[in-house]
Amino acid sequence: MIIKSLELENYRNYESLNLELGKGTNIFYGDNAQGKTNILESVYLACTTKSHKRSKDKEIVRFGLDESHIRLILEKNGIDYKIDMHIRKNKRKSVIVNGMPIKKASELLGIAKLIFFSPEDLNIIKNGPSERRRFVDIELCQLSKSYLNSLINYNKCIDQRNKLLKDISFGVYIGSDAFSAIDVWDEQLAAYGTAVISERIEFIKKLNEIINDINNSISERGEKLELKYEPSVTIENYAEKLKNSRSQDMKYFTTAVGPHHDDINFILNGIDLRKFGSQGQQRTASLSLKLSEIEIVKKIVNDDPVLLLDDVLSELDSHRQNCLLTHLGKVQTLISCTGLDEFIKNRMTIDKVFNVDHGKVSLNSIND
Ligand SMILES: Nc1ncnc2c1ncn2[C@@H]1O[C@H](COP(=O)(O)OP(=O)(O)OP(=O)(O)O)[C@@H](O)[C@H]1O
Ligand SMILES: [Mg+2]
Repeated sequence: MIIKSLELENYRNYESLNLELGKGTNIFYGDNAQGKTNILESVYLACTTKSHKRSKDKEIVRFGLDESHIRLILEKNGIDYKIDMHIRKNKRKSVIVNGMPIKKASELLGIAKLIFFSPEDLNIIKNGPSERRRFVDIELCQLSKSYLNSLINYNKCIDQRNKLLKDISFGVYIGSDAFSAIDVWDEQLAAYGTAVISERIEFIKKLNEIINDINNSISERGEKLELKYEPSVTIENYAEKLKNSRSQDMKYFTTAVGPHHDDINFILNGIDLRKFGSQGQQRTASLSLKLSEIEIVKKIVNDDPVLLLDDVLSELDSHRQNCLLTHLGKVQTLISCTGLDEFIKNRMTIDKVFNVDHGKVSLNSIND
């Protein structure tokens, strides 16, 4: 797929913006705080309904105003999709695709495939498990409707179960048999949770088929990188572990076991990179993970995703920059950066260069 055009109205520091994007590499450069990330965020939001920064709608609307619009045209398999997103400060956002209102985020996720890459992604191994789960969730939600469904229902069950535990403890629950009420939630939790676990197992397996070669092409040391899924419970012991943790759960009104506590380990030559990896090893493995993600999306959806690279090139040394840029291939990429040195150094083929200055974007001639 490719994004053909982007239009913003009262979006963060943009009063109005109209852009025609190139099919290959599009560079947005400018000083700090000019609006580069805002452009990438708006593209991500229009295609996924969520901000990559987890910003709330009311934070996105231009200061002092009540509503924003994003209008984006993307082309996929020769068909144009016109996405019209209306963001309001105090109401739910609405999304219209080709004139038809859509009700669920999954309808949008089914159309567009994006990969967002920011400097924080290079810390995914160093950071806590929730970041690693978030990576898997974001990816799988784009790739699998059933995963998205299971995850939404799983999270709802967790909320309901935790609320019930609290209600029981405070005497608010007036059902005759509190334990059988928890049983009902446990059963549903285990059903959705099992679905989440099995798709995570498959996803990690797919990543493992490619990540090692990619990691070796970057580090050139012949080390073996492997991802290891560390589930909080297995499909086999799920029900039992849930039961065993019940008395503790009733005390803290939380659910102590289940896929919302999973982790993924990165093993390099048998060593746990989370604990013992050097910063360089961790960053190389993180970059490999991101590049594997591109390959997996390409393979599964049989189409190229659009890449959004927010200021990552300046975070990488020139060897790693080169590895990333070679992997981009013909994929449409939107890159934000403060300078153009990296591209000149790496002799990149660039489609369009935009200068971003105080919420205004101008197209530069490539030869400038
Ligand atoms: N809701 C909003 N309304 C108006 N302006 C906003 C809003 N939210 C953020 N901004 C402004 O947008 C600007 C930041 O834009 P952005 O994060 O895109 O900058 P950037 O060009 O990516 O900078 P950097 O190079 O530092 O990453 C800031 O000046 C900020 O005040
Ligand atoms: Mg930025």
